[in-house]
Amino acid sequence: MAEVIIVRDEQEAGRLVGDAIVDLVRTRPDAVLGLATGSTPLAVYRHLAERVRGDDIDVSRVRGFALDEYVGLPAGHPESYRRVIEREVVEPLGLTPENIRVPSGELEGIETAGEEYEAAIRAAGGVDLQILGIGRTGHIGFNEPGSSLASSTRVKTLTEETRADNARFFASPDEVPMHCITQGIGTILRARHLVLLAFGEAKAAAVAAAVEGPVSTSAPGSAVQLHPHVTVVVDEAAAASL
Ligand code: GLP
Repeated sequence: MAEVIIVRDEQEAGRLVGDAIVDLVRTRPDAVLGLATGSTPLAVYRHLAERVRGDDIDVSRVRGFALDEYVGLPAGHPESYRRVIEREVVEPLGLTPENIRVPSGELEGIETAGEEYEAAIRAAGGVDLQILGIGRTGHIGFNEPGSSLASSTRVKTLTEETRADNARFFASPDEVPMHCITQGIGTILRARHLVLLAFGEAKAAAVAAAVEGPVSTSAPGSAVQLHPHVTVVVDEAAAASL
């Protein structure tokens, strides 16, 4: 059963989860973090950066693995998840860029990119703490409904709903890629601690399905119920259907 923590707002969630990451890094300086993109984890990254700078925490050995990436965006596109992770996590925390991996969404070599990513996570000893957001469709990473609960990192097609949701980051909806490469649900479940964050009423149904609904491929977030160590951090609005 997941531990559910209801917070006042995103800032409180940022402090709670950011402080937990600081504690992890203090006990394990080479901790492996699983990094989500999207707007949900930004308050966590901001608080973490403040703590790292303010308390002079050594993060030089911390490693990180992003959950997912768009396929086929031009290299250096500001909304590629590689750039987002660099901007929101690597630079503010003063991390070593080499210690952070993002799945490769380049078309060249895409057939083997998933396996290579899985091998890199294994070689790092697995993820200690995985930050997760959740999409309105219930996706975690970019595992849309129908994704196998045992899946590994692979290329997937984005749903129209997710493309529409993410259009706000692009100049026009047509610019949102059709495909992505994402850690599988099986990959996510191998992390040692899952921290699922969600804010706002638009996420209430997805949160309820993830936390309390039947475990099913039609609600990818429900896979967290298969994991022994899950913390769900939500505001009142996102918790409204629990
Ligand atoms: C995005 C990401 C997910 C994220 C989710 C929610 O498209 N691929 O990893 O958790 O959708 O996004 P947001 O946090 O912006 O609501």
